Amino acid sequence: MKNAMNKTMSASYPTTRLRRLRSNPQLRRLIRETELTINDLVAPLFIHHGNNIKNPITSMPEQYQWSVDRLDEALQEIAEYHIPAVILFGIPAHKDPIGSAAFADNGVIQQAIQYIKQQLPELLVIADVCCCEYTDHGHCGIVSDSNEQFQVDNDQTLPLLAKQAVSFAQAGADIVAPSGMMDGMVQAIRTGLDEASYTNVAILSYAAKYSSAMYGPFRDATQGAPQFGDRQSYQMDMGNAAEALRETALDLAEGADMLMVKPAHTYLDIIWRVKQAHPGVPIAAYHVSGEYAMLQAAIAKGWLDAERAPLEVLTAIKRAGADIIITYYASQVAKQLAGR
Ligand code: PBG
Ligand code: ZN
Repeated sequence: MKNAMNKTMSASYPTTRLRRLRSNPQLRRLIRETELTINDLVAPLFIHHGNNIKNPITSMPEQYQWSVDRLDEALQEIAEYHIPAVILFGIPAHKDPIGSAAFADNGVIQQAIQYIKQQLPELLVIADVCCCEYTDHGHCGIVSDSNEQFQVDNDQTLPLLAKQAVSFAQAGADIVAPSGMMDGMVQAIRTGLDEASYTNVAILSYAAKYSSAMYGPFRDATQGAPQFGDRQSYQMDMGNAAEALRETALDLAEGADMLMVKPAHTYLDIIWRVKQAHPGVPIAAYHVSGEYAMLQAAIAKGWLDAERAPLEVLTAIKRAGADIIITYYASQVAKQLAGR
């Protein structure tokens, strides 16, 4: 009797054989729970001041700094494979203590946004909003001295972030993405945008951004490493998970439309928690430069498969709960997915 029950109610081996549904590619395709698609991808682009520039970034093989006049080459695959969005980072000609190049009317990002919107009106343009690429000290906000100890001044930074966001919106950005981890940044930006009538420009907040060794190659790419100190007084501590729920809840309350977790591959548990905590809110995850560099280095050595390894990592990020994945593999993976 007991055996009969088992057979009907919770059948186990040999009645149940999970290998049955793995036996051919069609079945596997039919029952796959999580599948990465081109619609999930955002491609980062580094925009360099000047002309005729396509500088390879040594620590990020296959990634380049582009001047606006050479952008077509970068945009070609993005357009061909219908990648929905790009996110832009700038390398300006001049840096100063407040990062004023970030909100110059003819700034590198403003020019790039205008150019992209002219060429590809349907491509969504996300503009990263932060000071570190534009400040001479390389911090994400205004630096003040108190008792010989440098401080990043939160409240003095907020109006500058709002100014950047409005300037990018004016140039045609669809989405602004504040990445500096200043308290109140989302509220300051939402207020600034609304006062300038950019009520439809969305905010993707880097809400849970950790202080991470994984940003090293990006700082080479943007020449934006801090000249002194580090970012631990504003970016999150790697040991904290529950704090990510406070950060994301606050940013939502301030008016964030979408939330980001960053890095992605090393913080899959955080993506999962944030998605569970805020169902219905689009969650982005940034597969960052160091995470890309690790894979690229192993691939270059022939130790990992150039197609399967990135696809597996990005699928894991989606499976953890990310709706949007920002990745330097966007073009490569889009090409792979389109070829299936
Ligand atoms: C700047 C910014 C960083 C990244 C995105 N925006 C670097 C940092 O905070 O030091 C990292 C992206 C990457 O590593 O790919 N606030
Ligand atoms: Zn920054």
